[in-house]
Amino acid sequence: MKKVLVVGATGLIGRTVVDTLAQEHEVVRSSRNDGERADMSDPASVRALFEHVGPVDAVVSCAGAVPFKPLAELAAADYEAAVQEKVLGQVNLVTEGLAHVRDGGSFTLISGVLSREPIATGAAASLANGAVESFVMAAATELPRGIRINVVSPSVLAEAEAYHPFFPGYPQVPAAEVARAYVRSVAGVETGKTFNV
Ligand SMILES: NC(=O)c1ccc[n+]([C@@H]2O[C@H](COP(=O)([O-])OP(=O)(O)OC[C@H]3O[C@@H](n4cnc5c(N)ncnc54)[C@H](OP(=O)(O)O)[C@@H]3O)[C@@H](O)[C@H]2O)c1
Repeated sequence: MKKVLVVGATGLIGRTVVDTLAQEHEVVRSSRNDGERADMSDPASVRALFEHVGPVDAVVSCAGAVPFKPLAELAAADYEAAVQEKVLGQVNLVTEGLAHVRDGGSFTLISGVLSREPIATGAAASLANGAVESFVMAAATELPRGIRINVVSPSVLAEAEAYHPFFPGYPQVPAAEVARAYVRSVAGVETGKTFNV
């Protein structure tokens, strides 16, 4: 049994990831408003989170908001928000969490299909998702003590009905299938991978 910290535990993806991982592991739930409260976009908040939770075997992220707007309406502040939340927020989990992850442990981050396929209004999301995947590819080569890192990159979720009109013809992936990719990352042996689901 591993001790797994799940950030974004109350979200659409996070809820299913928590339920799935909790079948085999001890799960510590975190978000800004529930469980072990922390804001991953704030390094000091993430530092306090890890100091309070203590050593873990795995850190799992199911969080990272990005704005969706037509390209002509996306301003510098929107791109900054996407980077601050989804990119630097998840990078904070790695930089602040590294000292608290046990030997042979893992990080699992979240990106999304927009890193590799476009939709209208999705430029900031594509930028953030691509950055997260590139970070994981590179960070995997330098993590110490046998620690692994992967990223789960889902298509639009079957349960995210409000998003479906923005993803015409896209495969819709059930949350349970996304959760299986997290299990593969947490309990498997791979590193530096983007799991497209
Ligand atoms: N839904 C989809 O179809 C889909 C598809 C592909 C990729 N994704 C990506 O998957 C991720 C999660 O999506 P979702 O639909 O599950 O989102 P969601 O339902 O909005 O849930 C987000 C979760 O993250 C937490 N959170 C948000 N900002 C946070 C922060 N700064 N620090 C700590 N926790 C934070 C939220 O709780 P609090 O508000 O309490 O903090 C909540 O638990 C996003 O990055 C999204 O882009 C989603």
